[in-house]
Amino acid sequence: MVWSIDSIPSQEGRTVLVTGANSGLGLETSKILVNKGATVILGCRTLAKAERTRKILRNETDCGNIDLVELNLADLFQVEKATDQIKLNHQKLDLLINNAGVMAPPQTVNKQGFELQFVVNHLSHMALTLNLLPLLANTSASRVVTVSSGAQYMGKILWEDMQGKNYYDRWAFYSQSKLANVMFALELSEKLKRSNLDILSLSAHPGLARTNLQQTSVIANGSWQEGLAYKLMDPFFQSSFMGSLPQLFAATSSSVKSGEQYGPRFNFRGYPRRCRIAPLALSQKNREQLWQMSEKLIEDFIGITKGKELLSE
Ligand SMILES: NC(=O)c1ccc[n+]([C@@H]2O[C@H](COP(=O)([O-])OP(=O)(O)OC[C@H]3O[C@@H](n4cnc5c(N)ncnc54)[C@H](OP(=O)(O)O)[C@@H]3O)[C@@H](O)[C@H]2O)c1
Repeated sequence: MVWSIDSIPSQEGRTVLVTGANSGLGLETSKILVNKGATVILGCRTLAKAERTRKILRNETDCGNIDLVELNLADLFQVEKATDQIKLNHQKLDLLINNAGVMAPPQTVNKQGFELQFVVNHLSHMALTLNLLPLLANTSASRVVTVSSGAQYMGKILWEDMQGKNYYDRWAFYSQSKLANVMFALELSEKLKRSNLDILSLSAHPGLARTNLQQTSVIANGSWQEGLAYKLMDPFFQSSFMGSLPQLFAATSSSVKSGEQYGPRFNFRGYPRRCRIAPLALSQKNREQLWQMSEKLIEDFIGITKGKELLSE
């Protein structure tokens, strides 16, 4: 039998945080989880976007357990503020979906000096996860799902110039950040197992899904050529609903195991299935190196000691 959203069990009593909940895959994921009875915390770049999303979800769903948090992942201090707010308002967290992302913008450096895709897609999600680890650890059978991309298979970690100070290629840096997502998800899984914590960590990717991701990139770069290419490729894209299924499967199926990755058929389109992890993410040495470097960058700005203490080295 093909897995579908009907296969998702009731999520009543579960608390979920979805980043990038106002658009594309995050919106679809939030809608389905609200409909299944979960309390969903909508993590959005601004409160206005989160409020708008709550209105949409209240109109389109049967249930209404929705909380909001302002979560601008381009700023590590905002991430710290958001996690403090979540910890204040919630006693437990069953599921964290690290979904938000930005793709191939012109070179942009954030307040703390980080390349935008590195910080939004990878570093802030790592900081968010580690800061929320005590809450996840207080909840039985909790999960973290980190959303990657097929770009992981093309990605390399640019060890010598991770922030693109000397050379910037927007697609190479998108691929780097999406490879980093998978490396983080897998290394977190290993560390959680070693620490005997009852938390699963998985990654998921949507294949090609029609969302705002492509248009946002076209507008930011003013590239009519890419705009035209996306129009021509449109028939190959699946809906944002279909694109959200791998992360929903990873988040809710009882058959998954920590460290696995789910994506559509042939990493392209269709219903979710287990898919291979990019070969470059399989080196434990490289994952540990990325982890240490990322942890240091986070610690230079905000503390992650509480989450870190729970993980054995
Ligand atoms: N669509 C695809 O074909 C595809 C393929 C592979 C991977 N993915 C991955 O899927 C995930 C979801 O993307 P999507 O396709 O649903 O695109 P989307 O419709 O553009 O949604 C992206 C979400 O991320 C949020 N975001 C971007 N920058 C942010 C920031 N600084 N702080 C907080 N939130 C921020 C956006 O908020 P705003 O609305 O405020 O910008 C939006 O809610 C991403 O991680 C992406 O890399 C998508």
